[in-house]
Amino acid sequence: MQPLHVVILAAGLGTRMKSERPKVLHCVAGRPLLFWPVALARSLGAARTIAVLGHKLEEVKAALDARATGVEVVRQERMLGTGDAVRHVLPALAGEPDEARVLILYGDVPLLARATIDALLAAQGAAPLALVTAILDDATGYGRIVRADGRLVRIVEQKDATPAERAIREMNAGIYVVTLGFLRAGIAELSPQNAQGELYLTDLAARAAAAGDVPSVEAPWTDVSGVNDRVDLARLDAIARRRIAERWMRAGVTIWAPDTVAIDADIDEIGRDVELGAGVALRGRTAVGAGVKIDTGCVLCDTVVGPGAVIKPYSVLTDSRVGARAQIGPFAHCRPGTVLDDDVHLGNFVETKKAHLGPGAKANHLSYLGDAEIGAKVNVGAGTITCNYDGVHKHLTVIEEGAFIGSDTQLVAPVTVGKGAYVGAGATITADVPAGALALTRVPQVNKEGYVERKRKKRDESVVK
Ligand code: UD1
Ligand code: MG
Repeated sequence: MQPLHVVILAAGLGTRMKSERPKVLHCVAGRPLLFWPVALARSLGAARTIAVLGHKLEEVKAALDARATGVEVVRQERMLGTGDAVRHVLPALAGEPDEARVLILYGDVPLLARATIDALLAAQGAAPLALVTAILDDATGYGRIVRADGRLVRIVEQKDATPAERAIREMNAGIYVVTLGFLRAGIAELSPQNAQGELYLTDLAARAAAAGDVPSVEAPWTDVSGVNDRVDLARLDAIARRRIAERWMRAGVTIWAPDTVAIDADIDEIGRDVELGAGVALRGRTAVGAGVKIDTGCVLCDTVVGPGAVIKPYSVLTDSRVGARAQIGPFAHCRPGTVLDDDVHLGNFVETKKAHLGPGAKANHLSYLGDAEIGAKVNVGAGTITCNYDGVHKHLTVIEEGAFIGSDTQLVAPVTVGKGAYVGAGATITADVPAGALALTRVPQVNKEGYVERKRKKRDESVVK
């Protein structure tokens, strides 16, 4: 087999997005549009992948580099048409043999299926060019496939088409596989003699048809549908998410109300017998172990959850790690740098940040644990707060294994509570507590006997009759 190179056309302005952000960096299922064809190219084992960029090139290139995609970038300064865009790629491919195949994709068409490309490559056979089409009720705006006796003759653009041609329902998807030698010869002869004064890549179809058959494969419309505005973006996002949810359901994940669940495209680990409630969002690089239950309304971003953990409704976890069998929430908030070991319990309205809780530690109610190193089996009472910030710097709180922190305690960091120590409820801990000690900071309680009765009498006497 000859090597396959992938070219992704993405120089367009994306005017209808009405956005400061380049169109191809808007996301479908959490993955920027451009990274969909990039992922497809990788799955095809493409030898080289070259993106044609123009509008906001630096920003798009930075996104490619940040993900270390290995995608090469070619600059097309002015949008002179799809043929001109591909023309800019040819110097980069100068060293490749004429027999190499080039797959041309668009940067704003995210849902193209691998199966469609497999079919396209198979259909090409010995032909110099093969392409993807779709049948629409109304193909207005698109290039139309002109056939004679079923044989593809050429592609005509909307603006160049006769009324009869405009009635054709078979559209050109803009996805082609071309042998490099044919591409070189064909691009060299393109001319802008057309209604838009552009170099049309589509003119290659007529050139190929003059020499022989032009194979085509028909794809479902969603596969080849591009994003022009945010309505398209939301439509394709919903379709992508539905497909992703169905893939996970078939892999052994129970998903309730799947149309409300948002699993990002780049998530690649959700274990068997995981259960996801309505409205759950799994984002970024989240990974979920087997048998985990994530209940209604939870949002997990870049978070790793160990097997058997239970995350109760409306918990939000970001850049965190949750150990096996841990119990989190409802309404817990784990901020970046949270590491919860196995069997940790975090209850309602507990917030953590850069906090490590050892195995079996518990903080069940209403707490803030930030910049904290908390040992195994520690019990953090309701309302405990680590005072980690002095207005300038953050400081560490250490609570050693087995310590017991009474309710409504403030731990003024930097401070250490030693192994097995007790802190009495209502404490403000400003100095280290030795291992095994009891720390109390309360003002002793005073009971004034009969106070209420005396007070009432005094008040009654002072009322003017
Ligand atoms: C093109 C096809 C048309 C097809 C349609 C499918 C041509 C001449 N026409 O239409 O038959 O039905 O796609 O969507 O090819 N781009 C560049 N540089 C350019 C022009 C375009 O990189 O100079 C990129 C765009 O960013 C986009 C893609 O190519 O990703 C398609 O461009 P667009 O203007 O949408 O397509 P048309 O040329 O109108
Ligand atoms: Mg155009």
